[in-house]
Amino acid sequence: MNKLIEKAKLTHNLDKDEILELLQNDNINEELFKAADEVRQEFLGDYVHLRGLIEFTNICKRNCMYCGLRRDNKNLERYRLTKEEILDFANKAVSYGYKTLVLQGGEDDYFTKERMTEIVKEIKNLGVALTLSLGEKTYEEYKAFKEAGADRYLIRIETTDKKLYEDMDPNMSFEERLDCLNNLRDLGYEVGSGILVGLPNQTLESIAKDILFFKLINADMIGIGPFIPNEDTPLKASKGGDLTLALKVMALTRLILPDINIPATTAMESLTPNGRIIALQSGANVVMPNVTEGEYRKLYALYPGKICTGDTPAHCRGCITGKVTGIGRIISDGYGFRGNQNTNAHDESLI
Ligand code: 5AD
Ligand code: SF4
Ligand code: FES
Repeated sequence: MNKLIEKAKLTHNLDKDEILELLQNDNINEELFKAADEVRQEFLGDYVHLRGLIEFTNICKRNCMYCGLRRDNKNLERYRLTKEEILDFANKAVSYGYKTLVLQGGEDDYFTKERMTEIVKEIKNLGVALTLSLGEKTYEEYKAFKEAGADRYLIRIETTDKKLYEDMDPNMSFEERLDCLNNLRDLGYEVGSGILVGLPNQTLESIAKDILFFKLINADMIGIGPFIPNEDTPLKASKGGDLTLALKVMALTRLILPDINIPATTAMESLTPNGRIIALQSGANVVMPNVTEGEYRKLYALYPGKICTGDTPAHCRGCITGKVTGIGRIISDGYGFRGNQNTNAHDESLI
């Protein structure tokens, strides 16, 4: 076995140069994916946790260069779900068997602290674990959501290269992003982050640093997605990321953070059929199927080719169950908190 992969498998530690060497060497890819799959098996078993994703608003005040929801994109019909619709979708998701729901949206100021806490409380009444993914908020807001019952928060750092970050996310500050991650951690959330792979001018060295950053902040979840250029953004002519590199970053993350939750991301499958299944066999242990109903899915247009935009939640649930069991894995019945992977939902106490 490659010496560095062997070391990573045993010690879960690599330095920047070692990570870079593995990122640069494409002859070891299969070995790397296999090692990550074995570490996932050893630490987390064969369980796959499903998180039902509700895309509740595509309105965003930010202007990220890569994202179809950016405020300057006038080619997108905007929507915002009502509280009743959100609760309806949440109820339906629970009826399909989801134990964790994710509320994801653009940075939409309509959803004030008061409105959001009310929604959080009502969803928590359904007995699910709840993840929020609504971007940068103040400490007070994060605190209020936590007190209302939110369990987890996802906010990707996107890249740890400050210059690249600030080029990609105009008028956003890298330091403020870091503050958000620190605040979430202080408040007791399970913290999820991650990056985009294949951004213009992103180097392998910068990606190696990103992977070390995941370890430094001891992230509980890391989502890696290939950047997919969107026609309605300034980066429409960019090359974009490829699945293999995204999988390598994911596999390396599994090796150095062996017990965290790592989703097989939607963007991976949007690039390659069965991309999520390949990811589940290369270190991932989570899938986040869309549980948004109706016409809204098409409008949550982060990037082109997004899978499942014409499908129903019921269809996706059946589809993913078939795919997961088809590779010999088991759909978990638990909430899938970090370090509590193999327990049954009924044994865990939520709040
Ligand atoms: N390609 C892939 N992922 C994207 N995201 C936004 N735009 C794109 C794109 N063009 C990701 C960002 C963000 C998440 C919600 O979607 O990483 O954090
Ligand atoms: Fe808004 Fe998030 Fe898209 Fe940036 S990545 S424009 S913050 S939805
Ligand atoms: Fe949506 Fe397969 S998960 S169609």
